[in-house]
Amino acid sequence: SDQKIYRASTTAPVNIAVIKYWGKRDPTLNLPTNSSLSVTLSQSDLRTHTTASCSSTYRKETPEDSLLLNGKLEPLTTPRSIACLRSLRALRSELESTNPSLPKLSTYPLRLASSNNFPTAAGLASSAAGFAALVRAIADLYELPQSPTELSLIARQGSGSACRSLLGGYVAWDKGSRDDGTDSCARLVAPKSHWPEMRALILVASAEQKSVSSTAGMQTTVKTSGLFRQRVEAVPQRMLEMEKAIREKDFEAFAEITRKESNSFHATCLDTDPPIFYMNETSKMAIRAVEAINKEAGRTVATYTFDAGPNCVIYYLEKDWDFLAAKLDLALDGKEGWSKERTSDAGGLGVGN
Ligand code: PMV
Repeated sequence: SDQKIYRASTTAPVNIAVIKYWGKRDPTLNLPTNSSLSVTLSQSDLRTHTTASCSSTYRKETPEDSLLLNGKLEPLTTPRSIACLRSLRALRSELESTNPSLPKLSTYPLRLASSNNFPTAAGLASSAAGFAALVRAIADLYELPQSPTELSLIARQGSGSACRSLLGGYVAWDKGSRDDGTDSCARLVAPKSHWPEMRALILVASAEQKSVSSTAGMQTTVKTSGLFRQRVEAVPQRMLEMEKAIREKDFEAFAEITRKESNSFHATCLDTDPPIFYMNETSKMAIRAVEAINKEAGRTVATYTFDAGPNCVIYYLEKDWDFLAAKLDLALDGKEGWSKERTSDAGGLGVGN
């Protein structure tokens, strides 16, 4: 019988939203209340590396599917992981039934080994890169013909934001209107090459805080926040304006929408009952620094955004690095709590490219 070990490896980068996903209309399928848009960072900066393997011989040793995450064995028994594996196996099984000479990989136990090249605990969107890499690695192992957009439907079930990491560049996640979620997937707005000057700088708030998980936070916000309802009405227009800013490479507009959107998201969190504080004093220090730098320059040099945690992502254009770096050093160095990670580019390669 077939004793072979089949293997495939891939990397998936982190993406950072400039229009935030916050709120689920269907928590099981991870269907969002609004569309969102992100910039995929470069593979060389923040990414998950995943190897997927399967073999009939695994049945004797470890019949269960397993995941080794940063060297630690994790069960693959969460409903989200199960949903992803089930969808991928179903696609492989379709291939096997139309082509009976293919090995029956869909029936073999899976082993996944995953590692991040950044601290997993730092709250840097590790689930997005993690599920995107898991889906891509298994799709490669199974030699699935599906496009990145089709695979994004599967990654979405793992972690909503993961669907955007299947593509590189500037990526929208259209909320879709169907109840079964088959139109809630990632869409390329522009490739990285469209705006090669774009950069991201990540300020890691080293004073680590245990925060409310995004799933729990979203549920409470949807239930209790009045501001949230206003936000859901405002986001479609903001999406259109953001897509236009990216198409026209209008940094001024990109920056304004990005900071207003981040602040709107965090205001909604504060309006949740009980309130959720993702930003801390260190985060506010970064906002004040960026505001002061733009004021001093007399134009928009940088913009900021925060996810469900205190870390700050600053977007800027390469030509402004020297000015920005010098001013940020003055504003933040010697202050408690920050370490800087500059990306080599933004709008990176996406998975599998
Ligand atoms: O994909 P999740 O469940 O980890 O949620 C991500 C939510 C935010 O990062 C705050 C916003 C976003 O669009 O990525």
